[in-house]
Amino acid sequence: MKVEFSEEALQQYKDILQRYPEKRAALLPTLHLAQQEFGWISREVMQYLSELMDIPVTVILDTVSFYTMFKTKPSGKYHIQVCSTLSCALRGSREIYEHLTSKLGIQAGEVTPDGKFSLVKVECLGSCGTAPVVQINDDYYEGMTPEKLDKILDELE
Ligand code: FES
Repeated sequence: MKVEFSEEALQQYKDILQRYPEKRAALLPTLHLAQQEFGWISREVMQYLSELMDIPVTVILDTVSFYTMFKTKPSGKYHIQVCSTLSCALRGSREIYEHLTSKLGIQAGEVTPDGKFSLVKVECLGSCGTAPVVQINDDYYEGMTPEKLDKILDELE
């Protein structure tokens, strides 16, 4: 299947370009747009953006791999990111992660068979003062415990 922005996304891309002095500077917002449009950033999406923006595909790959907010695999409807960096680790993120693996029956990088949840471990989510932190799609959940997480997941079900 050919990867291409819809007309609406293409218009949004043009609007993004207006705000930057050069195409390369617009890479991050364009990647966000691509993730919204395609769900995740596949090799095909990187190739498409490389041609669209005249940026080497290696630069796009480096950027996508550096920022954990970009998904390089298909994810579930609810994409759960568990911070596993020091502050969160000291305050129980491992217990949170293990609780999730046993509750959902998946490991990091996997999606539940019904496509509802995907799970990843990530580096610092930038909210160390409220550790441990879990991000589900665009929302942050702070001061997490397995019990709080169960409530949140039940509400999402
Ligand atoms: S260490 Fe988890 S948010 Fe910073």
